[in-house]
Amino acid sequence: MDINWAELKAAAIKALDSSYAPYSGFPVGAAALTEDGRLITGANIENASYGLGLCAECSLVSELFRTGGGKLVAFACVDKHGNELMPCGRCRQLLYEHHAPGMLLNTVSGIKTIYEVLPDAFGPEDLLERK
Ligand code: THU
Repeated sequence: MDINWAELKAAAIKALDSSYAPYSGFPVGAAALTEDGRLITGANIENASYGLGLCAECSLVSELFRTGGGKLVAFACVDKHGNELMPCGRCRQLLYEHHAPGMLLNTVSGIKTIYEVLPDAFGPEDLLERK
């Protein structure tokens, strides 16, 4: 599938409008393309109980399921200036759970696969019984 990275980044920038980040002052917008061609977005939603804040990737994954589920083929997230951001470690794990084979991310060091940003990932396959 051809990925329009400029369109994905523009969607992540637009998603910043939905961010609620009064505590950190660090809004994050995220966007992803699904295997069936949907463009989904998310933004961080913080909480007065600081540790309960949701990363942009959390609302993106909710949107994934709210709009029909499926797998992610491409992902981008940005700060308030529109600069690329690396998903935090927890969010790399969140994204890994829903990745399509070979999923790509627009990172601070260029386009990378999910396997590069989360090497030797723990995933659903690790829960299968093995001898
Ligand atoms: N944040 C995200 O939304 N995604 C990430 O991958 C990194 C961090 C948010 C969490 C918090 O609301 C703000 O950025 C500052 O850490």
